[in-house]
Amino acid sequence: MSRMFATLAAAAGLLVSTGASAVEISLSCSALGKEYEVCKQGADAWAKKTGNTVKIVSTPNSATERLALYQQLLAAGAGDIDVFQIDVVWPGILGEHFKDLTAQAKGLDQHIPAMSDVARVGGKVVAMPWFADAGLLYYRKDLLEKYNRPVPKTWAELTETARIIQEGERKAGKNDFWGYVWQGRAYEGLTTNALEWIASNNGGTIVNDTGEVTIENPNAAEALKTAAGWVGTVTPEGVLNYTEEESRGVFQAGNAAFMRNWPYAWALAQGADSAIKDKVGIAPLPMGGADGRHAGTLGGQLLAVSKYSKNADAATDLAMYLTGQEEQKRRAIEGSFNPTILSLYEDAEITKASPFIGSLRDVFANAVPRPSGVTGENYNKVSTEFFNTVHQVLSKRAEPAQALTRLDRDLKRIKRDGWK
Ligand code: GLC
Repeated sequence: MSRMFATLAAAAGLLVSTGASAVEISLSCSALGKEYEVCKQGADAWAKKTGNTVKIVSTPNSATERLALYQQLLAAGAGDIDVFQIDVVWPGILGEHFKDLTAQAKGLDQHIPAMSDVARVGGKVVAMPWFADAGLLYYRKDLLEKYNRPVPKTWAELTETARIIQEGERKAGKNDFWGYVWQGRAYEGLTTNALEWIASNNGGTIVNDTGEVTIENPNAAEALKTAAGWVGTVTPEGVLNYTEEESRGVFQAGNAAFMRNWPYAWALAQGADSAIKDKVGIAPLPMGGADGRHAGTLGGQLLAVSKYSKNADAATDLAMYLTGQEEQKRRAIEGSFNPTILSLYEDAEITKASPFIGSLRDVFANAVPRPSGVTGENYNKVSTEFFNTVHQVLSKRAEPAQALTRLDRDLKRIKRDGWK
């Protein structure tokens, strides 16, 4: 046998053997902004490396709708999705359906502590951290300059600057220009926004670390009153139905001075087709009054492997690959997804592509967690009561103080049969 033939035969053998064991893994990815595209690139790279294929299942953009879909699939023990993208507030709700990744998760302690903490439920590692989110204030550098205003440090300053710029831009003929856009639909995103208003005004975090319901307090009521005051003045009424993408749509089209959003909006605002390329800055969200603080809600996503997967080994390999160092770096550069691996915060290529990842490190380090750890599997009930109450206040169907009194009563009722 010639050497050439032997080499070819060996290569063919290799292909056949890989082909025989190749499997198709289905992966649920969010499709928010560029997420689908960036997720697919990573999945394709893994597929090429292993000879397996990946089918991407895209899921609803609203975190609340996505959770409902996952709960349905997992409660039925369905193996349709092997690898799940899950929200940082879901491990306590969904963890029982996921494979224990302890054996593979040796590097877990090299991730942001807040993210590795949530990955562990009841002594198991139920998911691997993928990217970290924190609420950020996006502002138009060019407009602050034009109106000679500083980047707002308090909500009162933001309200005033938003009003000044909105009035000025409308006078100049931009009739659909707004001061401030954010996420006001009755869904999980509103919980993250409202927690920021309240925590930044020393109004606590709905339920505290020891499990006590703390929401009924004057600082929380004051924060909600301020936010309700924006709707219809510096914020369009339509915000009551906005998720992340609707607010980004308005801001990126050049029709708002400020926006509250997660890091992913940066890569898109800086995209070739963006009307505001090079005109955007990012700052910590404003503080409530003088004794308040900057508070961005901790968000982020992890990857978990379904216990019902028929190809759990390959699925685990995919989850470990996507959450690994090389992919996290690529995703940070390509889509401005904040890494969860701490050492990547020193990476010059990442901080060049997304300067805020380096300069706003503290915002991420001090991000405010939602009370998902302490309320465990009841978190979604707590959050749902909270965002529905806030939505009523924003749409002027309830007064803040009374609404919070009712919410306090409802949350205590959930607590009675729920967490200790
Ligand atoms: C982002 C965050 C997630 C949050 C959601 C709310 O996806 O990563 O933690 O729950 O937004 O809309």
